[in-house]
Amino acid sequence: MAAEVYAGAVDKGLEGVVACTTKISFIVDATLTYRGYTIEDLAEHSNFEEVVYLLWENRLPNAEEFKAFKNEISEYLSLPADAIAALKALPVKDVHPMAWLRTAASTLALWDNEAQSTDPKAQKRVALRLTARMGMLVALFERVRQGKDFVPPKKDQSLAWNFLYMLNGTDPDEETVKVLDTCLILHADHELNCSAFAARVTSSSLSDIYSSVVSAISALKGPLHGGANEQVMLMLKDIGTVDNAKEWIKDALAQKKKVMGFGHRVYKNGDPRAKILRVMSEKLTKKSGEPKWYEMSKTIDDTVQNEKGLLPNVDFYSATVYYSMGIPIDLYTPIFAVSRVTGWLAHIFEQYSNNRIYRPRGQWEGPEGLKWKPLNQR
Ligand code: ACO
Repeated sequence: MAAEVYAGAVDKGLEGVVACTTKISFIVDATLTYRGYTIEDLAEHSNFEEVVYLLWENRLPNAEEFKAFKNEISEYLSLPADAIAALKALPVKDVHPMAWLRTAASTLALWDNEAQSTDPKAQKRVALRLTARMGMLVALFERVRQGKDFVPPKKDQSLAWNFLYMLNGTDPDEETVKVLDTCLILHADHELNCSAFAARVTSSSLSDIYSSVVSAISALKGPLHGGANEQVMLMLKDIGTVDNAKEWIKDALAQKKKVMGFGHRVYKNGDPRAKILRVMSEKLTKKSGEPKWYEMSKTIDDTVQNEKGLLPNVDFYSATVYYSMGIPIDLYTPIFAVSRVTGWLAHIFEQYSNNRIYRPRGQWEGPEGLKWKPLNQR
C-alpha cells in the first residue's frame, strides 16, 4: 500500500475548497446576496414567501405569479390526520426540539406519496409541502410539550403570521409578524454552509428530497452551526447582568472557550445579517422592557472584538430578538430550520440539475501492513 499517493495539503474543514458552482446565494467580503439581490435590500423591502420564490425560480415574481405561489403554499398548510396522530405519539419530555424535528421531518415523508418521485413537478410539490409544514411541525412540538391542542394555521395568512399564531394560539400583532418575517428572510440561505452542503452531499447520491432535508436538519442542529443561537441566550442568562459581561467573556476567552455567536469561516469583516439583527435587538429588548439583554450583548460584542478581533455572526443578535418575542429558547434553532429549509431545497434542486456524486478522499495516517490473527493469539 502506498499511503503517500494522496499525500499533500489536507484542507481540514474544506476551508477554501470550492465544491460546486452555484447561482443561489453568495458572499463577497461583508456582502451577502440572494440571486444577486443584497440581503439588506430584501430584508427592507421583500417578504419571506417572495424570497422563497426568488431562491427557487431565480427571479422575483410578478404580482400574478406571487399570488399563485402563495396560494400553492397555502394549499399545503395542513397535515394528514394520521400524520398528526403519529407525530403526537413521539416523545417530547426531555427531548430537544431539533431531535424531534429531525424525526418529524423524516416521519412526514411516510405520508407523502410523491416523496420518492423524480418528476420535477412532483418534486416542486414536495418542496412546497416541506416549506408550508416545517413551521407547523415546530408549533406542534411546542403545543404537545405544553399539553395544549394543536392550532391549525389559517390559509389566508403568511408563514410568519401562522407560525406565531400556531405557537401561541392567538392572532399575532403586525409588528411581531414583520420581525419574524425579516428573520426568516435573513436565515433563508447562505451559500455552501454546513447544512446546505449536507443536503447537497445526500442529494448528490440521487437520494430523495426528504432524506436530503433530514441530513441538513441534523447538520444545522450542532452548536457550531445553527445550534449557536440557543447557546447565545443560555450564555446571556448565565452571565445575568451587564456588569458581569466583560469579565465573564475575558475569563471564557482566557480558558480558550468559544464564545457562541462569534466568528465565521467566510466573513472576516462582519456578517451583514448580524448588523440588521443588532438594530432589531436594540429596539425589541427596549420594547419588551428588558434592554439589559441588548446592553449585555453589546458589551460582549465589544469585548470579543477587542480581545480576539472576532465579529458577531447571525446567531448572536437573533437570540435576543427571539427572546424579546417570548419564544422558548430551545426553539431558536428550529425556527432557523423553518426558514433555511427553503435554501436547502434550492440547493437540492441545483444539485440534481448538475449532479456529480460528492466523494472526496481521506489522507491515510493509520498503520499499514497489519495481518489478522485468531482471537486466542491477540
Ligand atoms: N470564540 C472564541 N474564539 C473563536 C471563536 C469564538 N466564537 N471562533 C473562532 N475562534 C478562534 C478559534 O479558537 C481559533 O483560534 P486559534 O487559531 O487560536 O486556535 C480561530 O479563532 C479560528 O477558529 P476556527 O474554529 O478554526 O474557525 P472556523 O472557520 O473553523 O469556524 C466557526 C467557524 C465554527 C463559526 C467558529 O468561529 C465558531 O465555532 N464560532 C462559535 C459558534 C458559532 O457562533 N457558530 C455559528 C456560526 S454562523 C452559522 O453557522 C449559522
